[in-house]
Amino acid sequence: MATKATWLGHACVLIRTERHSILIDPFLSGQPQPPPISAQQVSADFILLTHGHVDHVGDTVSIARRTGATVISNYEIISWLQNQGLSKVHPMHIGGSYRFAFGRLKLTPAMHGSGLPDGSYGGNPCGFLLFLDGCTIYHAGDTGLFGDMALLGEAKIDLAFLPIGDNFTMGPEDALRAVKLLQPRRVVPIHYNTWDLIRQDAQAWAEMVRKETSAEPIVLAVGSSVEL
Ligand code: NI
Ligand code: MN
Repeated sequence: MATKATWLGHACVLIRTERHSILIDPFLSGQPQPPPISAQQVSADFILLTHGHVDHVGDTVSIARRTGATVISNYEIISWLQNQGLSKVHPMHIGGSYRFAFGRLKLTPAMHGSGLPDGSYGGNPCGFLLFLDGCTIYHAGDTGLFGDMALLGEAKIDLAFLPIGDNFTMGPEDALRAVKLLQPRRVVPIHYNTWDLIRQDAQAWAEMVRKETSAEPIVLAVGSSVEL
């Protein structure tokens, strides 16, 4: 089975390799339009959290309890999750990488906040570079545009997930500039249309990407997948 990445709405991405399910930012039950895979049924061997905001931590605690998944995030968020009673955890921080059963994971910078749902300090927000067997995936997390995306692009990204919603993160124009810096082979827009505040025309953005970059834009419906 080829590796598959499924967009579960907002910033939630489920990556299924031959042997592992890797769930990023599982904000599922809080979405106004519930995604086709619920927090009660989603599979996870690993849960990766980009930052502490509630629309990213989401259903982490309940999914981790049900599945026994290992939760990976920055040191501060992991400490907070341990206080919620989770013990299968792995703290990391920006710039650090570690080889897990699914492949190597590196925490990358993100320009954003990271306060946890109860107001606890959530450290610095991050993105992820996942070096899976034969493919490299980048999940930017919530971020504004930053020039060091050009450095991240040196990893030869096969598939990038970038926020385009504006207001809290990059909007369409800065996300287009991000594509030019990251130079991914394919790019999927996320973190838009969850609420009116971040409503965007993803097809129009995809047109710009197609015209101005060599990346292939892929606009996914919530619940649909891209094969790697
Ligand atoms: Ni956020
Ligand atoms: Mn967010």
